[in-house]
Amino acid sequence: MKRIGILTSGGDAPGMNAAIRAVVRSCIYHDIEVFGIYYGYQGLIDGEIKQLDIGSVGDIIQKGGTMLFSSRSEDFKTEEGQQKAIEQLNHYGIEGLVIIGGDGSFKGAKKLTEKGYPCIGIPGTIDNDIAGTDYTIGFDTALNTVIEAVDKIRDTATSHERIYVIEAMGRDAGDLALWAGLAGGAESILIPEIKTSYDDVIQKIKRGHERGKRHSIIMLAEGAGNAYDIAERIKDELNFSTRVTILGHTQRGGSPSAYDRVIASRFGAYAVELLLNGKQGRMVGLENNQFVDYDLTGNFDKSNKEIEELYNLSSQLSI
Ligand code: F6P
Repeated sequence: MKRIGILTSGGDAPGMNAAIRAVVRSCIYHDIEVFGIYYGYQGLIDGEIKQLDIGSVGDIIQKGGTMLFSSRSEDFKTEEGQQKAIEQLNHYGIEGLVIIGGDGSFKGAKKLTEKGYPCIGIPGTIDNDIAGTDYTIGFDTALNTVIEAVDKIRDTATSHERIYVIEAMGRDAGDLALWAGLAGGAESILIPEIKTSYDDVIQKIKRGHERGKRHSIIMLAEGAGNAYDIAERIKDELNFSTRVTILGHTQRGGSPSAYDRVIASRFGAYAVELLLNGKQGRMVGLENNQFVDYDLTGNFDKSNKEIEELYNLSSQLSI
């Protein structure tokens, strides 16, 4: 293999730049030319492709976002779009592709792989929701962003004796809210994977209040309900002062944590190694602290075992 392409796709995540840097420099180390594909799959279709050298990825390891930009391409979902993408890859003589992104991005990688084009996926999303890996790049940084906010909100919640509902991102996954809830000592956590009724939340606040507790943090995953509805119910039923904070896209930005930079660097180098060893249609991952790779075209069920454990622990600690 003489030429490799790299792109980032879907929602950006802190640490993507560290992964790009690792892919580019590993390629150069192995004497392989590397091409950056800008704006994700859309840029691939449109031919937004440029050769990268050692210097092109200098001074980015500490930066959030992605220097290759990102997009969610509707065109690439079509047969015609995929055909155009392959034409571009052939035109540039790119023989293998590294894709950094989440679930949606891997669907694209699967399509290209099924059409005989060698792709390797690197999991990068703050949601930590990709089956086949315990960790996705960006999760640690996003979690620390959430925790910083939770700690600050707790200060004011205490001063004003209020109930705060804090909403974390995660699409259909609850990892971010769950980990933040546990790390931030939230009184209740609502995530899509585990059914918790608003009544349970209200009863818990009531019990706490009877013991003299005057403030609470309810950590809500965006896929588990509406923050304003919950706050309204608490106000109506308990007559407590409530406030809502939706953390939104602050969770996607910021300088990546050391952990994200290290994992991203290792994923990046591993992805190049796989392509050099003739592997294709694989996703790199971290499982039980081991770096592993899986068939991208396979179907994985992300186990909820850890989620249940963390949820139960958090309930136990926040009685
Ligand atoms: O997948 C990452 C993520 O930040 C999700 O947590 C969130 O639901 C979604 O992307 C938001 O997407 P957008 O940036 O397109 O609004």
